[in-house]
Amino acid sequence: MSYRIAALAMVLGLALTVSACNSMGSAPAGTAATEKSLYDRLGGKTAITAVVDDFVGRVAADNRINGKFANANIPRLKSMLVDQICQASGGPCTYTGRDMKSTHAGMGVSSSDFDALVGDLVATLNKFKVPEREKNELLGALGPMKGDIVEKPMASMR
Ligand code: HEM
Repeated sequence: MSYRIAALAMVLGLALTVSACNSMGSAPAGTAATEKSLYDRLGGKTAITAVVDDFVGRVAADNRINGKFANANIPRLKSMLVDQICQASGGPCTYTGRDMKSTHAGMGVSSSDFDALVGDLVATLNKFKVPEREKNELLGALGPMKGDIVEKPMASMR
């Protein structure tokens, strides 16, 4: 009989543990347990590809910086940017391009060139109505690359 009581207590204990875990599973939206990756919130690879197409189009039309892209391999640049953004936002891609420092070495990119390019990206993100939060997260992932890309920190050094 005491064995039966012990067994019953164990079953009850297990049931309580399971229900406690379930209630943790239904945490409010926005917490780590239910959070979607930035990649998913941006709309996955299709959306990222559309963003990169529009963005590179803006850069190509931007007289402040398009001179630097005169000899660039644009199809490769687009596909590398898609993979880079996909990976940086938590998506299922692997960036296989060169690191940012060696890619941009010798280009003489200034801080204002960098800001112009980021401005073009913001214009694209606004066109696609990417919400403020996702926009800031994406820009926050790219911002730290500035130190590896910019060789002329002062605009006057152009
Ligand atoms: C957050 C800012 C930037 C990111 C994330 C970025 C990213 C990249 C990537 C992924 C590539 C391709 C690398 C490869 O082919 O292996 C690339 C190439 C290139 N980037 Fe950037 N870049 C940035 C800023 C800039 C700026 C400000 C300029 C100049 C104004 C610039 C000029 C170039 C050029 C000309 C190439 C092409 C090189 C070639 O085809 O040989 N980039 N960049």
